[in-house]
Amino acid sequence: MEKAIIVDRLIKNFQISQKESGFVGFISSIANPTKKTIHALKGVSFTVQSGELVGFIGPNGAGKTTTMKILSGLIHPTSGFVSVLGFDPWEKSYDYLKKISLVMGQKNQLWWDLPVIDSFEFNKEIYEIPDKEYQKNLSDLVEILNVEDLLKTQVRKLSLGQRMKMELIASLIHKPEVMFLDEPTIGLDLVAQQALRDFIYEYNRKNGATIILTSHNMNDLIDLTRRVIVIDEGIIIYDGPLEDLSKKFAKEKIIKLTLEDEAKKEIFEGFGEIKKYSPREVSISVPRETTAFVAAEILQSIKLSDLSIEEPPIEDVIRRVFKGELAKEG
Ligand SMILES: Nc1ncnc2c1ncn2[C@@H]1O[C@H](COP(=O)(O)OP(=O)(O)O)[C@@H](O)[C@H]1O
Ligand SMILES: [Mg+2]
Repeated sequence: MEKAIIVDRLIKNFQISQKESGFVGFISSIANPTKKTIHALKGVSFTVQSGELVGFIGPNGAGKTTTMKILSGLIHPTSGFVSVLGFDPWEKSYDYLKKISLVMGQKNQLWWDLPVIDSFEFNKEIYEIPDKEYQKNLSDLVEILNVEDLLKTQVRKLSLGQRMKMELIASLIHKPEVMFLDEPTIGLDLVAQQALRDFIYEYNRKNGATIILTSHNMNDLIDLTRRVIVIDEGIIIYDGPLEDLSKKFAKEKIIKLTLEDEAKKEIFEGFGEIKKYSPREVSISVPRETTAFVAAEILQSIKLSDLSIEEPPIEDVIRRVFKGELAKEG
């Protein structure tokens, strides 16, 4: 398969002037401003195949948006190599911009006082989309997002969820081959979130679009992504199947027991942390390295009709990714 996106040893530093605290500090920082360097990306490398949908996750401040902005040509890296569909994004060639789209949760590109359709037509002109293609793209998008009745509504009269859908149509009316979605479901109600997820799934599947998706929404990740790239403090700490995240980062495993006879909860307390209990079904979380030992002990002391050892739920590990708990352990 062809590589749509190549990112190699990407570094991005931001210079900020630091204000010192207190009056003396304030005066001295005016007289003699101290510059501080923020190392947002410290050598990020990954590739994405054409048609892939990849989750790009990490705690706040990890460098996700910075990476997306570099990929879409909004900012220039300090050093490193980037290629998307064979283009250098920073050149911002018109041919490139016609093939990509950056969707940010809080972006606002619609004309507030005009019917929403006017904004779409404006983009049609900007992207020089031929009439037929425009009509087709528009009707596809409108149908999937279920907003037929709202095209003539003034933007200011739309709900947040409706407006986000319209922002998405505006971002995708030129049918980009590559989409950078930065927290697209943020601020949406549950119904709109689900509609958007369905849409992203379909768009990827129908058009073979390449998509990088940043999200703090568990369902976005579980429903949409097979592969995730985890970034923490500007460094990629994991790149692989979503379901293998637990294998790499979870410190525990879950021993699941089905009992022959009913047993009291207390009996299991010494083996580990009890996650679920009913008189015949018990799940116990135990440290990874002691799993085999604990399982053997249970087998010796309790009559079982079944025992299995499983990875902890993927949600637990993703939650720890969002909190930035994995960087030091990886
Ligand atoms: N324009 C900027 N000027 C200075 N620092 C910035 C700028 N943009 C981002 N940063 C810093 O770079 C780091 C990465 O930010 P960002 O890419 O927005 O993280 P994320 O999207 O993963 O939350 C953070 O420390 C952030 O404060
Ligand atoms: Mg961000």
